[in-house]
Amino acid sequence: MAEVGAATLSQSQRRIREHYGAVAGNAEALDNSQIHHYSRSEQQRLPYSACSVSRGCGNPLSRAALKPGERVLDLGCGGGIDVLLAAEQVGRSGCIYGLDMTSEMLELARRNAAQAGVKNVSFIQGLIEDIPLANGAVDVVISNCVINLSDEKASVLREAWRVLAPGGRFVVADVVLVRPELPPAMRTAAAIILGCTNGVLTVGEYEALMTEIGFEGVLVEAHHSTPWQRLEDKAKRQGQNDLLADLDPQLAHEALAAAYIFGEKP
Ligand SMILES: C[S@@+](CC[C@H](N)C(=O)[O-])C[C@H]1O[C@@H](n2cnc3c(N)ncnc32)[C@H](O)[C@@H]1O
Repeated sequence: MAEVGAATLSQSQRRIREHYGAVAGNAEALDNSQIHHYSRSEQQRLPYSACSVSRGCGNPLSRAALKPGERVLDLGCGGGIDVLLAAEQVGRSGCIYGLDMTSEMLELARRNAAQAGVKNVSFIQGLIEDIPLANGAVDVVISNCVINLSDEKASVLREAWRVLAPGGRFVVADVVLVRPELPPAMRTAAAIILGCTNGVLTVGEYEALMTEIGFEGVLVEAHHSTPWQRLEDKAKRQGQNDLLADLDPQLAHEALAAAYIFGEKP
């Protein structure tokens, strides 16, 4: 298992790991208010602490059309919510890898898998920028609101491409900028308020990067934009009035959105 020692992490990765370590450590006490992308039936089948630490911006499995026997990699699996649901879909002949850099999240994910009685999953410690799997190891790469956190988004996409087998699919939920005309300072401020501390890609940037790497059928489908009111409420709750002051309500209104991103490796 690849160990992610503090020395190999950037400052930003260390900050992110600390944050999600604390989320995992608090799993039983958290409510599961952030799980609205999942059906009631999905929620009922999952351990409570897989739901309470859910921090996704979509439900990638609702768009991945997994088939029995497929091998799936979840980039930044957190408490394992999508890993556990994917395991049901691929059955015993398939397998799911959950990759995360945060030990506390991985421990929680393993406990959740044991509680759910799921056997065909492996949780791996490592970075999404340097995936500890062989070339062509999986048929599908999924991820839920993690790539935006990276300060090396192009590396993540190249690594996803590398570990996909020919014919493999990339089906990811992430946050994107749908109004590229937003001035850079506002773009940064809005992204930080939403928790995307390393900024977000525009729809065009995402598509261009993936196409350049070699993905085919690239599509970025925004499905849930962030109204000004939500951005303002969140900034105030988080004590980020300075960032709020940098934003023009009209320009920032619905500039960021949750999206599904699709691509195939020919
Ligand atoms: C926003 S949470 C999403 C978790 C999960 N996908 C979900 O939907 O609940 C981000 C997760 O990605 C992990 N993560 C963030 N940056 C990472 C990186 N560069 N490499 C590996 N894991 C990372 C964090 O530890 C955390 O568990």
